[in-house]
Amino acid sequence: MPERIAVFGTGYLGATHAAGMAELGHEVIGVDIDSAKIDLLRRGEVPFYEPGLGDVLRRHVDSGRLRFTTDAREAAEFADVFFIGVGTPQKEGEYAADMRYVDDVIETVGPLLTRPAVILGKSTVPVGTAARLAERLREIAPVGADAQLGWNPEFLREGFAVEDTLRPDRLVIGVDPENPGRIEEVARSVYAAMLERNTPFIVTDLATSELVKVSANAFLATKISFINAIAEVCEASGADVTALADAIGYDERIGRKFLGAGLGFGGGCLPKDIRAFMARAGELGVDQALTFLREVDNVNMRRRKHVVELATRVVGGSLSGIHVAVLGAAFKPQSDDVRDSPALDVAGSLHLRGADVRVYDPEAMRNAAAVWPTLTFAQSIEEACAGADLVLVATEWAQFRSIDPAALAATVGQPRIIDGRNCLVAQDWIDAGWEYYGMGRHSG
Ligand code: UDX
Repeated sequence: MPERIAVFGTGYLGATHAAGMAELGHEVIGVDIDSAKIDLLRRGEVPFYEPGLGDVLRRHVDSGRLRFTTDAREAAEFADVFFIGVGTPQKEGEYAADMRYVDDVIETVGPLLTRPAVILGKSTVPVGTAARLAERLREIAPVGADAQLGWNPEFLREGFAVEDTLRPDRLVIGVDPENPGRIEEVARSVYAAMLERNTPFIVTDLATSELVKVSANAFLATKISFINAIAEVCEASGADVTALADAIGYDERIGRKFLGAGLGFGGGCLPKDIRAFMARAGELGVDQALTFLREVDNVNMRRRKHVVELATRVVGGSLSGIHVAVLGAAFKPQSDDVRDSPALDVAGSLHLRGADVRVYDPEAMRNAAAVWPTLTFAQSIEEACAGADLVLVATEWAQFRSIDPAALAATVGQPRIIDGRNCLVAQDWIDAGWEYYGMGRHSG
């Protein structure tokens, strides 16, 4: 049966979730305090780059099954099921997550709930948040204990957000075992189409559901930093981390995914989630349990420094006046997100060391220019590389992987390339006369 759903927050998570719920057949209203964003969404336009989302969004905005508003009251009158999909960014100057947007949703919606409602939190939050919010909701909702809160963490990846929303590899629902209410029943109804496909459905307590999400991200971050730590050893010993990752990846217990050595992880999730996790462990008196995540963070940040030092070395010791073409600004391909982007961070560091940096990214230039207005942005690979002393591939977009090394050699000043994502076929570049430097490989 279609449910009437309100989704609070229309960023990567909320907008995709709202469109995904409409695609599943529900009646949906998306809510945000940012009226500019809501205006775009109302016209069926996605305020960020996310492949496939525009089609789903437009289809359901046109059919009337998906609406957007800045008015929480309108949403509260309409919906029986509420999702929280607002951000939990890192607090300024601290490791902990800033919970103000999540808290604001509860403080706004709670007093408007005059009939039974189920609220499912999707945002990534410190363990203990859901229990606190459930209690607060009971206090402030006119309907009292019939305003029930559960947690339903989201695992979507940018670039695959629609696919991950519509075909998740698991669904996790956290409920208070003392007071389960209708949460599981409502979640089963919302996700009925997925349950029919036998998607694993894990019902657990609130704390476990919150921890599932941060543990998954901490594990992924650890896997990436593991291979980047090994890359450091490879660099020092003349070994090749790519061949090594292939070889260990055949062991099913290890697996090849997320063993891509390079510039390391960035984005709006992994970096801030491991930091918030450490902060929360400290509050719980178990900071030692997560001390290793500090090292995971350190290894990750060292990659950026390593690439800047490598660049300095290969151009002869000083970056001053050196023209460096940086290909990529987004934190990963298929995204225009530059939050904590290793690519943009390195471009900025090269610029601060006196290099003449020209950045090109297929989608992220507007966002990159907002963060680093003093960098030079080129309109194409060729424009960025014309006359360059060094080319750095910092994000593995398909169009960079398919560059013809011979053609680009004719454009640059010096055929030197740093493959910051180990995404190029090294031999092709060497054969075309390039000095090639990979990450954790002989030449790097
Ligand atoms: C991540 C999680 O994957 C997702 O489940 C969660 O919901 C949100 O956080 P996302 O931030 O979209 O998703 O990016 P992801 O694909 O996980 O990549 C994160 C970063 O790791 C990127 O900067 C990527 O370039 C880097 N990475 C990934 C590597 O450096 N090496 C790899 O092998 C894989």
